[in-house]
Amino acid sequence: MSARILSDGEGVRETIRLLRSGEVVGVPTETVYGLAGHAFDPLAIAKIFEAKRRPLTDPLIVHLADAGELDRVTCWENDSQRELVHALAKAFWPGPFTMLLKRNPGIPDLVTSGSESVAVRVPSHPLFREVLSGLGAPVAAPSANRFGKISPTSPEDVLLELGEAILAVLDGGSCQHGMESTIVRVTGEGIEILRPGPVTVEDLILFGHVWRSERLVNTPGSLPGHYAPGKPLSIIKTDIKEVIPEGGTALLAFQTPPPEVAARFVLVKVLSPSGDVKEAAVQFYGHLRSLDRSEALRILAEPIPEIGIGIAIMDRLRRATFGSIQKTGHQE
Ligand code: TXA
Ligand code: MG
Repeated sequence: MSARILSDGEGVRETIRLLRSGEVVGVPTETVYGLAGHAFDPLAIAKIFEAKRRPLTDPLIVHLADAGELDRVTCWENDSQRELVHALAKAFWPGPFTMLLKRNPGIPDLVTSGSESVAVRVPSHPLFREVLSGLGAPVAAPSANRFGKISPTSPEDVLLELGEAILAVLDGGSCQHGMESTIVRVTGEGIEILRPGPVTVEDLILFGHVWRSERLVNTPGSLPGHYAPGKPLSIIKTDIKEVIPEGGTALLAFQTPPPEVAARFVLVKVLSPSGDVKEAAVQFYGHLRSLDRSEALRILAEPIPEIGIGIAIMDRLRRATFGSIQKTGHQE
């Protein structure tokens, strides 16, 4: 079996039909491709976990057509929390922003892995929005990759990851941001950033007290050893001009390296020739995936400046190197 690629209006209608009948479908979002299932259909949710080989302890984000649907999936803690959530929804939805809120008991346990919180977001990709409003129900969707692997940012990436495990992918082109949504917990006290993403601290600070959780959230996607390529990957710790790599090494560069540096690598992929972190985010997973599929034996990555979405890229890059550090016992 290999998944069909669906496109345009007919593709949207077929996606809705498949979701209604309890199937799971790869869908485009503005961040990364998701693997969608009807949020109130536990059998569909079970298929998502099965296709991804994802542990049942790792809960799923619920996607809504608009903020008016929040009451279907959440409960409010108090008035100040509700006001803050609505202010954030007005500012960042539709868009790459996920809020962890108190769960409405009507949500199937599988979606939240039994936790009392539910993660919700209103995506902005036009095709996914058509699917959500046409279906008339919330959709649970994790990134459409095998558990712990590189997130997909094109329909072809979804086929490479899950083509044998799912029936169809809705083609919405390449993802606008290329990096998963920012996840925050919103309480009466303020905004706790649990996963950095396209909506940054600078964007959020206008809405109250913001802090980045020092402790990692106790869910697998937030643990080290995620977003990993199959090949050993490490981050360059010195000036790139001083790096003398082992033979067969590929370079994931932030900006175009000097020619004498590039010549030391079997393959070089540049995230942003002009040094723009947003462009680097868009290219990040695609370039990592193509180096992983190349002839190179290992990958060295140049660090990204930790400003704006650069914080999210470095967060993913560090997690992606974790397995390599475990195996080799060192990091360059
Ligand atoms: O941009 C995105 O957020 C993409 C697109 C498809 O929407 N989705 C995505 O989903 O990145 P996923 O499952 O790959 O990452 C979601 C993260 C996981 O680390 C999961 O454990 C955490 O959010 N999460 C989801 N629901 C949660 C909950 N109820 N409590 C705590 N963590 C939760
Ligand atoms: Mg993921």
